[in-house]
Amino acid sequence: MDQKSIISLNDISYSYENKTVLHHINFEITKGAFIGLLGPNGGGKTTLIKIILGILRPHSGQLSLFNTPVESFRDWNKIGFVSQKSNAFNKGFPATVYEVVSAGLTSKIGYFKFFKQKDKEKILKAIHDVGMSEYAYENIGNLSGGQQQRVFIARALVSEPELLILDEPTVGIDYENVQKFYELLHDLNKNNGITLLLVTHDTGTMTKYATRIACLNKTLHFHGKPEEFENLTEIEMSKVYGHPVNIVSHDH
Ligand SMILES: Nc1ncnc2c1ncn2[C@@H]1O[C@H](COP(=O)(O)OP(=O)(O)OP(=O)(O)O)[C@@H](O)[C@H]1O
Ligand SMILES: [Mg+2]
Repeated sequence: MDQKSIISLNDISYSYENKTVLHHINFEITKGAFIGLLGPNGGGKTTLIKIILGILRPHSGQLSLFNTPVESFRDWNKIGFVSQKSNAFNKGFPATVYEVVSAGLTSKIGYFKFFKQKDKEKILKAIHDVGMSEYAYENIGNLSGGQQQRVFIARALVSEPELLILDEPTVGIDYENVQKFYELLHDLNKNNGITLLLVTHDTGTMTKYATRIACLNKTLHFHGKPEEFENLTEIEMSKVYGHPVNIVSHDH
């Protein structure tokens, strides 16, 4: 089995002003993993992701990406990202789905260059992979929130990342499409070998698809296999969440 390290967090801590948000985080993500990152609101998930993306510098500890210390890491095009608050486009926003997805390639080819045939094929494939082919030339502002979210995922996929990080990407997507979305992620992980780090509150669905679950509430309270996570007692879970929780499992 390939154990190539994709993300390695070594004793990472971070504070906003005087408030410690991340406390001595040690965490390793290897190639091919599908990590579900869970935790309560304010637990530090988005902060951790900003550190991984190089947006925030940890106050202590080391971060390596693809076996390279973040300070000298340059291959940012290996990492795709879909944020928690993707800017929704208003009605009348003058860009098609195709144009929005093509923006995912501009970091590679330079903003004003024309797309080659090969790039056009990549753009259409990414749109196809998220099930949005029939809307490819539709104005983005005319799509529903859930459809727009799929387009953001296509934009992250078009540069063929090796690691895809998604921060609560299913907010605003209806139940049926959330299930389809998880199937899509599962497929990208299994068949395209993309390593996935997904922040979600959808515990039940996550345990079905993830290869590993991590629970973050300032410290990393749990990191293990989904079945181990499902076997946590209520007392252990309430430590993770800081209050009692019911685990709802969706096994339909
Ligand atoms: N820019 C900031 N300045 C000061 N404090 C911040 C800032 N961003 C986040 N925080 C605080 O840091 C803590 C962690 O926030 P973070 O957004 O990482 O949590 P989260 O786990 O992503 O939560 P959620 O599930 O609600 O998205 C919170 O208490 C938040 O108020
Ligand atoms: Mg967040």
